[in-house]
Amino acid sequence: MPSSSLRFRLRERTASRHAAVDEAVGAFKTQSDYRRYLAGLHAFRAPFEAAIAAGPLPADADDWEFAPLVPLIEADMADLGLPVPAGPAVLGQVPPVATLEEVAGRLYVLEGSALGARVLVVETRALGLDERYGARHLVAQSRGGAAFGTFAAWLDRAALDEDAVVTAAVSTFVAAERAFAAPAAIGHADALV
Ligand code: HEM
Repeated sequence: MPSSSLRFRLRERTASRHAAVDEAVGAFKTQSDYRRYLAGLHAFRAPFEAAIAAGPLPADADDWEFAPLVPLIEADMADLGLPVPAGPAVLGQVPPVATLEEVAGRLYVLEGSALGARVLVVETRALGLDERYGARHLVAQSRGGAAFGTFAAWLDRAALDEDAVVTAAVSTFVAAERAFAAPAAIGHADALV
């Protein structure tokens, strides 16, 4: 990956934010850890995916398509007896995207998390959770690396203002960190363990 690639520059310029999210998620030592993550992930992705669905998507990204994960996350929550909040939980409503840079930055974070899912899915299998029960979204996501590659190739050839894409990616990471760290999501999930 050449250092001129936007995907490379995004990874570099958001690394500390990724580390903060990683820290907020932690490791899945117990099912309780995983349930907290699931509640936080839903709180993060539900409003972001709704905003993505309502806005423009890259039109020339080959066969890449945005694949929503929320339905599978909700199926995992149902498996584990976690209630799905009726409306926006921690983050409130996320404003719709106004520019292609905003779309690109948000999607970089949502799509790139498929790479981390490959790590997390190993931990959930050790807890007895898989594509049939409890970790449906992680198994699907961990198989989505090729889609991220196609998306990243689009990032690298699209004419985008780098700083604006980084700003959108950073604010998306910060929202994720808030959702994973939120006492509401944590208390909510813990109450049902
Ligand atoms: C404990 C949880 C997580 C772990 C252990 C983890 C781990 C990883 C790993 C190993 C990579 C691949 C890095 C590489 O190829 O050089 C990655 C990439 C990435 N992760 Fe995570 N991740 C976690 C959570 C998340 C979450 C929740 C998000 C989104 C909110 C996220 C967003 C990203 C993005 C955007 C990339 C792509 C970076 C690139 O351009 O290569 N990760 N993660």
